[in-house]
Amino acid sequence: MERILIIGANGQIGSELVDALAARHGERNVIAADIGAASAHGAARYVQLDVLDRARLARLVDDEAVTQVYHLAALLSATGEQMPLKAWHLNMDGLLNILEVARERGEAGRPLRLFWPSSIAAFGPHTPADATPQHAVMDPASIYGISKLAGERLCEYYFARYGVDVRSLRYPGIISYKSPPGGGTTDYAIAIFHAALRGERYDCFLCPDTTLPMIYMPDAIRATIELMDAPMERVAIRSSYNLAGISFSPRELAAAIAGALPGFRIAYHPDGRQDIAASWPHSIDDSQARRDWGWQPRIGLAQLVGDMLEHVDAGATA
Ligand SMILES: NC(=O)c1ccc[n+]([C@@H]2O[C@H](COP(=O)([O-])OP(=O)(O)OC[C@H]3O[C@@H](n4cnc5c(N)ncnc54)[C@H](O)[C@@H]3O)[C@@H](O)[C@H]2O)c1
Repeated sequence: MERILIIGANGQIGSELVDALAARHGERNVIAADIGAASAHGAARYVQLDVLDRARLARLVDDEAVTQVYHLAALLSATGEQMPLKAWHLNMDGLLNILEVARERGEAGRPLRLFWPSSIAAFGPHTPADATPQHAVMDPASIYGISKLAGERLCEYYFARYGVDVRSLRYPGIISYKSPPGGGTTDYAIAIFHAALRGERYDCFLCPDTTLPMIYMPDAIRATIELMDAPMERVAIRSSYNLAGISFSPRELAAAIAGALPGFRIAYHPDGRQDIAASWPHSIDDSQARRDWGWQPRIGLAQLVGDMLEHVDAGATA
């Protein structure tokens, strides 16, 4: 029986992962933790936790006999540029805390399996932008991307040196409707649906042809759980796996929305987020994930657009 702790559980990914893991392992075996005072969503028990408090994190893991940790707390790309030192502190020290707790538990014969997400932001302007390979030049330009690349190196180090069973995916931009996005460069692809359903023009902060790798939330959750369920010997990559869903540009997304909502209009006013996006890949080669543990994306652009238009609450802010 697994006992699962999700840190950053109130966020865009955490709130959906909590429900998926509770459905799979039982509500009593899933603990949702976040720095916020109360649970935002979810079917699990809720604990207030600052991941930067290592002693409290270690106590929680022991008290609850945790066997798996999903560590999702981070400052994202756009927010990180507003607070670079805070982003570095949270993204690096939060990860180091959970890696250290896992190292200590492993040495005491109580191993933990960890999931920590990297991002396409770990790539940079000299990375091949099309079908970006698993192993490529990585020269991230944002503080967020730098923290993700450093985090990948730490994960591989803790696996190689201490045998910590840490697993990771380089998530593309994740599109979902249940929770608001957390301040990333791909957030436009969610906000656009809210504007469209309100009957408003969408003012896009990226240029029309900025093609970026994206994935719909159900595929992202399934990839995460499939990787965590994979047998040890199938997980060859201990830095972070490339993961692909669908790649599209704001122009292509707007056209797909206009196909369903005639009259929908978009205008382009690129800001600093365009500079971040310009340094990221257009598409990702995830053949290693497909080979190693059988990854296969299922949801394409037409299904994503149809589903978002059906479910987005137009009144909510994105
Ligand atoms: N959403 C995406 O498109 C995307 C893409 C690539 C990678 N990722 C990665 O996935 C992870 C989760 O992303 P998200 O979109 O759900 O982010 P989010 O911003 O929506 O959620 C992060 C959560 O962490 C919590 N948190 C912040 N500081 C904390 C602390 N000190 N202790 C405990 N909790 C704290 C926040 O309250 C928030 O609920 C992050 O590592 C992010 O870098 C996300």
